[in-house]
Amino acid sequence: MQIQIDQTRLQSELQKLAMFTSVEPASDGTAVTRVVFSADDLRARAWLKELAVTEGFEVRDDAVGNVFIRWHGVEPSLPAVATGSHIDAIPHAGMYDGTVGVLGGLEAMRSLKRSGLRPRRSIELVMFTSEEPTRFGIGCLGSRLMSGTLDPVRADALQDKDEAPLSVVRTAAGFAGPLSSVRLLPDHYHAWIELHIEQGPLLEREGIPIGIVTGIAAPAGYRFSITGFGGHAGALLMPDRKDALCAAAELILSVEKHALATGAIDTVATIGTCDVHPGAVNSVPSRVVLQLDIRDTDPGRREAVMQAVRADCDELRQRRKVTITEELVNADAPAQSSPHTVKLLEEICTQHGIAYKKMVSRAYHDSLFMARLAPIAMIFIPCRNGVSHRPDEFAAPADIALGTRVLAEGLAKLASE
Ligand code: GLV
Ligand code: MN
Ligand code: MN
Repeated sequence: MQIQIDQTRLQSELQKLAMFTSVEPASDGTAVTRVVFSADDLRARAWLKELAVTEGFEVRDDAVGNVFIRWHGVEPSLPAVATGSHIDAIPHAGMYDGTVGVLGGLEAMRSLKRSGLRPRRSIELVMFTSEEPTRFGIGCLGSRLMSGTLDPVRADALQDKDEAPLSVVRTAAGFAGPLSSVRLLPDHYHAWIELHIEQGPLLEREGIPIGIVTGIAAPAGYRFSITGFGGHAGALLMPDRKDALCAAAELILSVEKHALATGAIDTVATIGTCDVHPGAVNSVPSRVVLQLDIRDTDPGRREAVMQAVRADCDELRQRRKVTITEELVNADAPAQSSPHTVKLLEEICTQHGIAYKKMVSRAYHDSLFMARLAPIAMIFIPCRNGVSHRPDEFAAPADIALGTRVLAEGLAKLASE
């Protein structure tokens, strides 16, 4: 079997996909903003489906807008082998996060078709809805529903910043039907592999073109609402204030302190948003909402950090006379890759003399939830300076093509099992 990746075509498709953005492409790289179910997301989806149909693959989508692109195998009743990722992009993102796994997955399937392969099992490409939490506040919406990790009623009630619920937004985007129908059975897929940029610096730093992911760190999300007593910035005397933003500042530093205190490189915690009410320079803040993103390979250690933060919240409540409420958005378990698939990918690399490194993913991916449905693995490729979630995110065309090649061979081998 001779697998040839069409690097030129794949590159031009990545460029084309980057043009579906609500932010003007920047001159020094492409800033992409493609929020789920925005006009750009819908146009991008239509374009992707057209590519798949042209290739003769079968296309369907589910009630939350996950897209399935299937190449039927010789024994179509067997559980399929699947790959995929996402095309939604956070505000001012780059053009490779997720898209490499979707367009690379498509090219992997096309390359196998060109090689003359007739796969025993069907091979399916999945494009997930809303891997990014931008619009509805929770990441991996599509794969959570697919794996039964998110309650469909809770999902439909999630609101965007304009208070539009998912139920309304998805229907307007053309995805109707009960969300309960999105769930797949655990034996639906025989195996799952996701191709993705590393989003960290290790592969590039070590000059290694392929990462084979052995596990994905466990993410959790919390929302803290702090309410104090605000008022006129000139007239409200310092001793009489219960400044919610000052309390929030202490809470932010508490998170940093306790995450650092574990001494573990795998503990990371970020407060990435801070909404201040009323948000006027001459008004003492009366209410602040913070969103915390905390991750660890060890969920017990992650919880220990949260307990230490909660103790600090108790002390803050007493001392600053503010109320602090904590709301859980998600607290997920880590995922382990399938030893069988990892070994298979290692063998492919060894056979072709491709240097590789086994590594953990600290970013989350839809594979975290696909692990509840199938044996998984991920293939990482280097990205320049480890940069991601920024317009200057970059992956070299040759690295993308190599990752796609390893993916193609992995899919072919798994489809023959
Ligand atoms: C995914 O985008 C993540 O935040 O890890
Ligand atoms: Mn991302
Ligand atoms: Mn991603």
